[in-house]
Amino acid sequence: MSRPTTARVRLDALRHNYLQAKALHGERALAVVKANAYGHGAVQCAKALETVADGFAVAAIEEALALRTAGINGPILLLEGFFEASELAEIVDQDLWTVVHHPWQLEALLASKLDKPITVWLKMDSGMHRVGFDPAMFRQAYEQLSASPNVRQIVLMSHFARADEPNAAHPKQQMEIFRATTEGIEAPVSLSNSAGILGWPSTHVNWGRPGIMLYGVNPFDGLEASQEVTGDLRPVMQLESAVIAVRSIAPGEPVGYGGAFVADRPTRVGVVACGYADGYPRIAPTGTPVAVDGQLTRLIGRVSMDMLTVDLTDLPAAGLGSRVELWGDTVPVSRVAGLAGTIAYEILCNVKRARFHYSDN
Ligand SMILES: Cc1ncc(COP(=O)(O)O)c(C=O)c1O
Repeated sequence: MSRPTTARVRLDALRHNYLQAKALHGERALAVVKANAYGHGAVQCAKALETVADGFAVAAIEEALALRTAGINGPILLLEGFFEASELAEIVDQDLWTVVHHPWQLEALLASKLDKPITVWLKMDSGMHRVGFDPAMFRQAYEQLSASPNVRQIVLMSHFARADEPNAAHPKQQMEIFRATTEGIEAPVSLSNSAGILGWPSTHVNWGRPGIMLYGVNPFDGLEASQEVTGDLRPVMQLESAVIAVRSIAPGEPVGYGGAFVADRPTRVGVVACGYADGYPRIAPTGTPVAVDGQLTRLIGRVSMDMLTVDLTDLPAAGLGSRVELWGDTVPVSRVAGLAGTIAYEILCNVKRARFHYSDN
């Protein structure tokens, strides 16, 4: 028998979530599959979405080329654009779309002699202050691109810094800046990430860019939303393992490194083959939910590299070989992330060593 730690990825749930995103947003939606599809496997996910998705978004050309090599022929957008002007030839060759977010990229593109014109997504910094053209420079950048023989089509885009905060005024301010700056420009627009799609209908224009919601995570989960938040999302990844050892300890006995948990009653401890080397967050505290044979119980003690320990005291039928869900249908990944002081994005991206198993119904 091999180590039972398995990330089960349901490609049908992924497709369902994409179709939800597209229906909520309207028009078209790029499936964001950067960072190995948020840890789910970019090639497998893109293939599963290929028949329904209007295109894909990745961070950089390496991720795009991996998809092309796997036979993904549809549009692929590079969200960080190119890092050197020399990538432009490959962008032409592989028929990729690129973000242009910085004056050096604009200059490099204008100065190049490309065999064919390309599609450019011109990014505005409407308030996130990370990447994108300053609104004061945006229109001129647009006009330069429009006049360039290297450019076939321009999509105007921006990104929200605080769309996952239900009551934030910031998304509206960003929208206002974007609208005022682009007034009168006839070009397709792309504004919404998952939070925009789920919670801010006014941001739905031409192209959506759903990421985390494709993987079944609603960024508003657990927050008191004042506006209506929609979405019927299905968890895509089930991180599973099994109980590989059981022991009973007396009150006062500690469990694991540092004796971080001390039993306050006679306790049955289940040892599970999953640890921080598999991507389970070491910082998750005692009490973090875990499901054993479908029943909720709790993590106890410190997570170690290859193992963690769970409380089986109230689950007398559970024992050696019991199936353990670390996150998935019963334990929301965002709950584990929240207790570990992070977000579902990070812990999904960090899954490793576990065997990946794909299903599609
Ligand atoms: C520019 C851009 N658009 C869309 C997304 C997808 O965001 P989310 O995963 O929150 O839907 C990201 C993710 O970071 C992004 O950087």
